[in-house]
Amino acid sequence: MNLGRLNHVGVATPSIEASIALYRDVLGATAIGEPFDLPAQGVRVCFVDTPNTQIELIEPLGDASPTRAFLEKNPAGGQHHLCYEVPDIHAAKAWFEGKGARVLGEPRIGAHGTPIFFVHPRDMGGVLTEIMETPKEAH
Ligand code: CO
Repeated sequence: MNLGRLNHVGVATPSIEASIALYRDVLGATAIGEPFDLPAQGVRVCFVDTPNTQIELIEPLGDASPTRAFLEKNPAGGQHHLCYEVPDIHAAKAWFEGKGARVLGEPRIGAHGTPIFFVHPRDMGGVLTEIMETPKEAH
């Protein structure tokens, strides 16, 4: 497997609205999407475009959201995951499993509408790693 482009950096936040204000008013971001709910993953998401990648703001959605535990340890929010693109999600899953890395669950549709999975941070040098199939229109 060849590692693809960095698609986005996931940043957890207790308030997407407050983070949008930070990225717009302090960091100077000019391309900020509309926040949307991703109930299957227990998160509310908003993408901030930068010239070479995106920031994915993630706020917990619902009591069972896995992002809640992160915010309990990091109440102000913080860097949550890195997401890399691959051409074939199933080939990538087999690759990581063949390397002994723990893939968390089956591939599922992520915030960009393409299949994703996460790899356990303990097998990724401490970084929660999202692997995402490259959107077809980007080929
Ligand atoms: Co992500």
